[in-house]
Amino acid sequence: MSDGAGEIIEVGEDVNEWKSGDRVMSMFFPEWSSGKPEFKKIKSISGESVNGFLTEESCVPAYAVTRMPEAYTYPEAACLPCACLTAWNALVELGNIQNKQKLLIEGTGGMSVFALLLAQQYGLDIYATSGSESKFDKLKSLGVINVVNYRNDENWGKSIFMLSGMGVDHIIDVGGGSTMKQSIEAACMGGCIYSIGILGNGRKGEITFPKLFFKFLKLQGLAVGSRAMQNRMVQFINDTGMKPIIDRSFSFDQIKEAFSYQASGKQFGKIVLEW
Ligand SMILES: NC(=O)c1ccc[n+]([C@@H]2O[C@H](COP(=O)([O-])OP(=O)(O)OC[C@H]3O[C@@H](n4cnc5c(N)ncnc54)[C@H](OP(=O)(O)O)[C@@H]3O)[C@@H](O)[C@H]2O)c1
Repeated sequence: MSDGAGEIIEVGEDVNEWKSGDRVMSMFFPEWSSGKPEFKKIKSISGESVNGFLTEESCVPAYAVTRMPEAYTYPEAACLPCACLTAWNALVELGNIQNKQKLLIEGTGGMSVFALLLAQQYGLDIYATSGSESKFDKLKSLGVINVVNYRNDENWGKSIFMLSGMGVDHIIDVGGGSTMKQSIEAACMGGCIYSIGILGNGRKGEITFPKLFFKFLKLQGLAVGSRAMQNRMVQFINDTGMKPIIDRSFSFDQIKEAFSYQASGKQFGKIVLEW
């Protein structure tokens, strides 16, 4: 439970940045305030090496939260610190996405759907893969140009390459070893693949190296982002009015059901617990 949002109840004596009543959200890497990633900045992870947010109250350092988007509810803000910031870091901070470039999102999980929403705002042409035909219409209604079913089409990378007219510029790779070969196929000349996840048992796998170098591809690994990036992302959301897609909300005591639902892969976008 790396992410949460809520209201500040009380602040410590020396805290000037916050006051009670402020609406804030958590940080995935509480020690990464700004600048480039360093081992020491990313060793603390909310919900892993430090306490997470399956809690009614939490005591955190003042630097370990940021303001949340003004028009957001707490459940909406709780979607942002991991999934949206990862997509933001990939596409905006590192990828410098531009109007009319092409993006491929893989699957319809929380992070991929945030990549889609951000790319919409920047005017990209968006392509998607999904293993769930029932989600195709929803993807199309969000402006996705073509969807390929990665379960029926084992050469889905080539299919995306053809459908997009010589490949896509940016690829959000969520499967690692289970998707990277196809991601390389889908890329255009000089495209960039953001290695983000290992869905589909993708901890290890093969890469077609000649394709990587003859297509002059960039392979960019990344993990979430810094506090400074989170603040820039919040500013962007305030400016554009972008909203997350929440598939389902569960109550605090439905956590087991929530995890089962997450594991089923039926969700489109995020799921949240609220209380
Ligand atoms: N590096 C980072 O900083 C970072 C940050 C966030 C997440 N992650 C990682 O990124 C991955 C996605 O995270 P998430 O929270 O968005 O996951 P999620 O919400 O659980 O995503 C589940 C969805 O992914 C799709 N999917 C499942 N297996 C797939 C496969 N083999 N190939 C393509 N799509 C597949 C399915 O969509 P369809 O039904 O449409 O097929 C499924 O509904 C995870 O591995 C997560 O650990 C990494």
